[in-house]
Amino acid sequence: MFNTNTISRFKDLETPFYYYDLGLLRHTLDACKMASDQYGFHVHYAMKANFNPKVLETIQSYGFGADCVSGNEVKAAIANDFDKSKVVFAGVGKSDKEINAALDADIFCFNVESIQELSIINDLAKAKNKKAKVAIRINPNVDAQTHHFITTGLDENKFGINIWQLNDVAETLRKCASLQFIGIHFHIGSQITDLEVYKNLCTRINDMQDWFEDHGFQVKVLNTGGGLGVDYHHPDTNPIPNFEGYFKVFKDFLKVKPGQEVHFELGRAMVAQSSALIARVLYVKIGQKKNFLVLDAGMTELIRPMLYQAYQKIENLSRESGSESQISNLKSQIFKYDVVGPICESTDCFQKDVELPESFRGDLFAIRTAGAYGEVMASGYNLRDRVQSVYSE
Ligand code: LLP
Repeated sequence: MFNTNTISRFKDLETPFYYYDLGLLRHTLDACKMASDQYGFHVHYAMKANFNPKVLETIQSYGFGADCVSGNEVKAAIANDFDKSKVVFAGVGKSDKEINAALDADIFCFNVESIQELSIINDLAKAKNKKAKVAIRINPNVDAQTHHFITTGLDENKFGINIWQLNDVAETLRKCASLQFIGIHFHIGSQITDLEVYKNLCTRINDMQDWFEDHGFQVKVLNTGGGLGVDYHHPDTNPIPNFEGYFKVFKDFLKVKPGQEVHFELGRAMVAQSSALIARVLYVKIGQKKNFLVLDAGMTELIRPMLYQAYQKIENLSRESGSESQISNLKSQIFKYDVVGPICESTDCFQKDVELPESFRGDLFAIRTAGAYGEVMASGYNLRDRVQSVYSE
């Protein structure tokens, strides 16, 4: 991701900023497209992962659809030229205003998360003399084997409709003349690295579609959600996620009937590796128990390490190239530092006891794999400046 030219370009720039490697983004999207197209699968990009305009423009140019979780995301998808017939809208708390805007935009479908929401969408569609296309988001009670904060498909999670409620769903759908049922939707969690999890999901989807068909509903769309994980530990050796393996699981284990469409909503896998947060060391605090490197970026720019105890690789770009051999040559001068931010919170720590070459004020640091849920989760806490973006091109 970084060559000497890139790093010398950084030297003149004000930090912190998100650096976007658009070449790597395109390689990733090529791989995703190739792997999904071979089976005729439909991929919607989960905009929540990153809605930086250049990232959206690049993703849109591949013809992917958009997966949105707010009215503003629906608007942004359309404003960024995503085909509205490829826009899906999920979320447990869609407001009337958001539903109305999505009805006006004639999106592909609502992924509906409760029986009450079905009735509300029906009423709002009726008032507009429209038919709303809906897919039922089912909570399949499948464990995603990921961090509990980003698990969504267990009974204890707020998302989707539980299996025991399906009789009521069927009854409501029969009563609601302004709804058009098109299929079923799932999303069990994020940063899923064990593909076995998806086999379990396929089994559940197969049962669920049989249930709907047995109850007289034609299931045209199977939407499996997203969640494919990336390699946070080895961003250089594994920059592109295993799209081939991922889609093949669905090809092999999902029972796809003639005329059915299979949809996906990938976020992280499409964008995570192509960005890094670049920051400078402001202060080096050498202590008796701990050494601290205080960066000019903190939880206000990248909150994942603090919020989910997430590991994101940290590199001193001024002292190491990141290649394993060069790091081991430096072993004799390796120090242990807690790499922290400037925010007035003890939790504002990117990682404890990071082994790094001896580091100094002004050194440039990269926090890798920051393209997903990085810039978009930035906040203005402590009245910080809005984090900037810098592009490879
Ligand atoms: N579809 C739905 C309905 C979702 O809620 C999500 C993510 C996705 C698709 C895309 O999931 P992905 O492919 O990106 O895993 N902020 C957390 C992740 C939250 C994910 C929220 N939902 C993090 O930084 O790990």
